[in-house]
Amino acid sequence: MKIAIGNDHAAVELREVITEYLKELGHDVDNYGAAAGEKCDYPAVGKKVGELVAAGDYDCGILICGTGVGISIAANKVKGIRAAVCSDTATARLVKQHNNANILAFGARIVGTELAKDIVKSYLDAEFEGGRHQRRVDMISAMEE
Ligand code: RB5
Repeated sequence: MKIAIGNDHAAVELREVITEYLKELGHDVDNYGAAAGEKCDYPAVGKKVGELVAAGDYDCGILICGTGVGISIAANKVKGIRAAVCSDTATARLVKQHNNANILAFGARIVGTELAKDIVKSYLDAEFEGGRHQRRVDMISAMEE
């Protein structure tokens, strides 16, 4: 998959670890996040990755800040984005299966490295189930009109 990743200053190390992990899994990853030592406003990164995913430039996005919350709130302001904050693997699977989330978010101050990797794998391995879930996702999309 082609994946856009982004982070603020609270999540540089975890973003680097997750980027390497994604490459090991065979994905193409482009970074739009902060580098080490750089202060960064999470809304700008959430907006940027959200716009790229919504435009179809990437299959999905991964966003990491301190909690995963601020950066996902920003991304969710972009039309067509369904960004979901996940701190466990079951939720990460279900946000794809039921909500067709196109951005996965989590917090570097909340989840450890190994759990973060498992969350990413659970999200990427899952598939949207469609059917009744599609109708509900369509209802969310209609709210953007
Ligand atoms: C940055 O200190 C912190 O506020 C940010 O990473 C994030 O947790 C916001 O939601």
